[in-house]
Amino acid sequence: MRIGIVGLGYVGLPLALAFAEEGHDVVGVDSDPRKVAASARGESYLEDGASGRLAAVSERVAGSPGYEELVACEAVLIAVPTPLTRNREPDLGPLVAAGSALAGVLREGQLVVLESTTYPGTTRERLAPLLEESGLAAGRDFNLAYSPERVDPGRTDFTLRGTPKIVGGMTPACLERAVGLYGRVCDEIVTVSGPEPAELAKLLENVFRSVNIALVNELAMLCDRMGIDVWEVVDAASSKPYGFMRFDPGPGMGGHCLPVDPFYLSWKAREYGQPTEFVELAGEVNQRMPEFCAERIARALNDLSKPVRGSRVLILGVSYKPGVGDLRESPAIKIMSLLAKSGADLAYHADHVPQLPELGLRSEPLHPALSEADIAVIVTAHPTLDLHAVVEGAPLVVDFRGVTRGIEAPNLVRL
Ligand SMILES: NC(=O)c1ccc[n+]([C@@H]2O[C@H](COP(=O)([O-])OP(=O)(O)OC[C@H]3O[C@@H](n4cnc5c(N)ncnc54)[C@H](O)[C@@H]3O)[C@@H](O)[C@H]2O)c1
Repeated sequence: MRIGIVGLGYVGLPLALAFAEEGHDVVGVDSDPRKVAASARGESYLEDGASGRLAAVSERVAGSPGYEELVACEAVLIAVPTPLTRNREPDLGPLVAAGSALAGVLREGQLVVLESTTYPGTTRERLAPLLEESGLAAGRDFNLAYSPERVDPGRTDFTLRGTPKIVGGMTPACLERAVGLYGRVCDEIVTVSGPEPAELAKLLENVFRSVNIALVNELAMLCDRMGIDVWEVVDAASSKPYGFMRFDPGPGMGGHCLPVDPFYLSWKAREYGQPTEFVELAGEVNQRMPEFCAERIARALNDLSKPVRGSRVLILGVSYKPGVGDLRESPAIKIMSLLAKSGADLAYHADHVPQLPELGLRSEPLHPALSEADIAVIVTAHPTLDLHAVVEGAPLVVDFRGVTRGIEAPNLVRL
């Protein structure tokens, strides 16, 4: 098969790889010429070793800045960003641009699948009319389906093949074609009755995580006041073999999905006059965490009679989760901005992120950064971080990830 992928990002690139590795030809279209050029060179900016895999199949992956190459594809998957506007409302700009451009080259018999996370109704109400500007009718002249992406960048235990894939088609024939397509790269396909349940299922997965993370984060703030170790509480509750699922507290949610997707649901819910209070409250609690963390850092310094102003604060890990360099919505950046406003002398050490131009900083070697700091703060613990070296090397350590459990030291403070 010849498969087109619109958007060569964290979602599109692994999809391109998966199809190419199964022997299919892939045309990757991206509005960012650097991503097109990199994929043409067989290079990936993803941190999970995709470069080697991409180089191995580079003759089957063609990058293209324009949509014309998609004419020859049997199926086109759309994986463009679905961000928020400044007012925290769905921004379908990239999707509308992709849909309109695709309409210009769409031909009879093609299958189009939307993979971007979005509110229920997007495929039918927004994408289908855009594609129909081609003069072709969805479900009659071309097939249209929605299939949410479950990739978790940096994760190696669950792959595209080993993770069940939800698919909902506009018609039974659309569904059948989409199932046939994904069956080439996924072992298990979960079919639903249309695009809307598939769109909403993805939002449920992410809202579920957001709500549960908010719950433990709120508990962490309470534990801080009560002088109870929240990690001990979570560890103890996790011993229940049924009816409990572990979620860990932390400095706040980051990434493209969890801080963004719940707003897609609550925005759509407003159209139906149905409040989504859980969803919104979870967002509020999680957004409060960086402020709580900055205040906790100030308190730890205060206990040593040091003000934030002028103190050297070394942040360890700045991406939103371990093992990746993705800075989107990263709580570390929010904590650093708050500390900068209070006059802290900021430094950071992080794998995957050599520099932070907007803060005018470069990642410092762990030594001598630890001994030069007044306080070291573990915000995101990359697997390579030597925790014993951190606790031994810095005069004061605050750990917002609970990774120092098992280490007891007078200079160590945990969330
Ligand atoms: N990153 C994840 O872990 C993840 C997981 C599941 C779902 N998703 C969802 O998948 C979608 C894509 O996310 P991502 O993380 O891959 O984003 P990304 O920003 O990494 O990649 C999107 C790519 O689309 C390109 N693009 C934007 N507009 C375009 C257009 N009109 N035409 C062609 N290319 C265009 C961008 O240049 C970019 O390379 C989002 O809806 C996201 O919510 C992401």
